[in-house]
Parts: sequence; structure tokens; C-alpha cells
Amino acid sequence: MPTFQAPKGTFDVLPPASARYERLVSRFAGLVGRAGYGLLVSPMFEDVEVFRRVGESTDVVRKEMFDFEDKGGRHVALRPEGTASVVRAYVEHRPQAPFKAWYVAPHFRHERPQAGRYRQHHQVGVEALGSADADLDVEVIALPAQLFRELGLQRIRLRLTSLGDDTCRPAYREELLAYLRERQDQLCDEHQGRIEDNPLRVLDCKREACRTATKDSPRMLDRLCDECAAHFDRVKAGLDALGVTYDIDPTLVRGLDYYTRTTFEFEAQALDSSQNGAGGGGRYDRLAEAMGGPPTPGIGFGLGIERILLACDAEGVFGVPETTLDVFVIDTTGGETARDLTAALRAAGLRADRAWDNRSWKAQMKAAMHSTAALAVVVEPERITIRTLREKGEAETVDGENVVDQVRKRLA
Ligand code: HAM
Repeated sequence: MPTFQAPKGTFDVLPPASARYERLVSRFAGLVGRAGYGLLVSPMFEDVEVFRRVGESTDVVRKEMFDFEDKGGRHVALRPEGTASVVRAYVEHRPQAPFKAWYVAPHFRHERPQAGRYRQHHQVGVEALGSADADLDVEVIALPAQLFRELGLQRIRLRLTSLGDDTCRPAYREELLAYLRERQDQLCDEHQGRIEDNPLRVLDCKREACRTATKDSPRMLDRLCDECAAHFDRVKAGLDALGVTYDIDPTLVRGLDYYTRTTFEFEAQALDSSQNGAGGGGRYDRLAEAMGGPPTPGIGFGLGIERILLACDAEGVFGVPETTLDVFVIDTTGGETARDLTAALRAAGLRADRAWDNRSWKAQMKAAMHSTAALAVVVEPERITIRTLREKGEAETVDGENVVDQVRKRLA
């Protein structure tokens, strides 16, 4: 018989390790819920055109999509990123603005698998549509900063820039293009032939050739129009007021093409540079229009759950929580009492488990010791006793009618 493994670039997360995923998502849900974001659940696949609106020159769209024709001949793709789906849903349903939504979802990118880079990864994120207020940018950026603080991460660096808008970016793009054309033969192999697609991406290239060639290139931050400059000043002042520290980084471009104005990335400095992007986001004030909707400003972020947990490992924080049971039921009388008593204990709100297969007293006791329960209820033909499993103590005989109350009393 052949055996199977999870597909290349994917992985299973088993309990108890998965408890960290659960806890991380629940922390995130609490944090963004308190800020007025509601959960948005959207399909894991969309018409491929939805994702193409993210920008044809991005690697995510050009090279990494898991796309295929379904049985009805529709060309669809598994979600490579979350923003396009949220904006598609916004344009389709036109909810009251501002519309503030959060999500947790698997994302699929056909990348070359390596540490921290998978073909299926998971993101938590938010998107806020319908307001161009710079203070909304501050709110959105402060959320991951708060999450990282709550997790105990200390070595997170926030890189921040503005990519301008339709008023100031086109002229800057031309200026940068002219600069790069003069130095085209000095760029890395990948970028020599690709500057026309998106010249800004060259600024983000990590290779030495591009870094050297663009050292003195014109910077968007020096070319912002008055409105973009005022917006960016307000964002910086807001972050300062909230005590969120950041580094202005005019070379920050990000891998997606929809960004306008405020753009940011959280870097986990405890990780190697190839996998240290813990999350990022920014404004995308033209994306709703690109999706066929009315002009609607928007901003959001996505955080990589696996990257965050790797950063937690590297900093030795937010370990796997110990999951504990309250009570374990052992029954040597045939199992009916275990069945009914376990159900009653759970109905009373206790965390209860039991042994199976009517095994010997010894085998069941071993299972109880192996479980994380604090107490065992032992059902024998002539009596029911409660015993402590983690510390020494007397076995206490209890009245069969009263077991749930007695267990509760012992736990207290
Ligand atoms: P992104 O930077 O492409 O942005 O992805 C967000 C985060 O997902 C990354 O910072 C990283 O932590 C994680 N990530 C991405 N690709 C992988 C991978 N192959 N393996 C493991 N983790 C990965 C977006 O997707 C935007 N939608 C974010 C956004 C929301 N911008 C505005 N709103």
C-alpha cells in the first residue's frame, strides 16, 4: 500500500502544538473585536480575475497562484492573499461604510518551500473600507503592534513609508524609470529586464547589484504631493502619540501592487531576513474601483501566523500552553457509568475525559496518569472514589448521586 504525506510546502499542526494557533487567533479576535472589526468569512477560491486586480506585475499573481479550471469551465484560483476577496465582497454587498472586517484564513502561494515559506500559510488580518482618515491608518497599524506586545515579542521592527497617490506617483515613477534606465546593466539579472513593469520593486530588491545601483535613486518620500505629505505627517504624529515606534524606510515597497500612501511591514528581527516578514499592509485607495466598485479608500494588514509563531520560538515567548483536564473517569464495571458520568461532568462545565475499551484497572489508571487531569473518578462494583492524580492524597469514597458536586468541591 502506498503511504501519503502532506503535499509539498504544506504541513499538519497536531494537538497539543495546535493550541498555540487557537490561542493566537483568539487573542487576535479579542483585540480587533474590541476595536469594532467583525469577522468576515469569504470563499477560499475566487474568479481568477479578482486576484489579477491586485496587480499583474506582482509575483504572487504572475507566478505563484494555484489556479485551475473548475468542472464548469470557470477559471478560478485559491486565495493567494486576503485583501482582494474582502474588497470583492465589499463591492458586491455594499455594506455601510466604514466597513471594518477581520479574517483568519489559509492562503496559497506556489513558492519554493523553505523555512518560513510555505505553499499553504495562514493569515489573520483586518481591512477597513470607506474612510481616508489618517487616524484610521494609525488605528490599523497599532493593532499588530499591540498583538506583538501581548504575545511578549520584543524584537519586532515596524518599517513605514508612503507610496504617494495618483497625483504624485506617476511623475515619480517616470523619474525613477529614467534613473534606472541609465543604470539598467548594473541591476541584478531579474530586474534588468523588468524595470518597466514596476520600477519601484527594484528599490526593494535585496541583491547587492540593485542595492548599489539604487543607493542614490530619487525617493518617493521626497516627492509626495502636499496632501500625501500632510496625510503621512498625521500618521506619524498619531503613532508617536500612541507610543508605537517605527522606522521610516523609503525603500519599502512590498510585494503587492495595490498600495497607495501609507505602507508598512513588521519585521521579526529574531528571524533570518528571508523569512522575517511577520506581517504588513497599507492603504489601497484605488482597489475598490479596480474591482468595479465606487471609489472607496481602504487600508488593512495581513499577519503570517506561522511567521509569528517562529518569531515567538526564537524569542522564547508564547509557548505551547499546557492543556489540562479537570477529571478522568475510570470504570471497571462495564463502562455505562463512565459514559453517563462523563457526559454529566461535561454538562456541568468541567473538562472531563475517560478510558475506553473496558480495559483493566491498571491500564485505565495509566491512561488517567497520562492525561493531564487533576482528579480521577474511579468506578468499581462496590464503590465510587475520587482520587488526586498529580499529588498524594486520600481516595475519598463518594455517594453515586453526588459525584459531580463532589468533584467540583474537590477541584475548588
Ligand atoms: P503579504 O505581505 O503578501 O501581504 O502577506 C502577509 C504576511 O503573510 C507576510 O508578512 C508573511 O508573514 C505571511 N506570508 C506570506 N507568504 C507566506 C508564505 N509563503 N509562507 C508563510 N508565510 C507567508 C498580504 O497578503 C496583504 N493581503 C496584506 C494586506 C492586507 N495589505 C492590506 N491589507
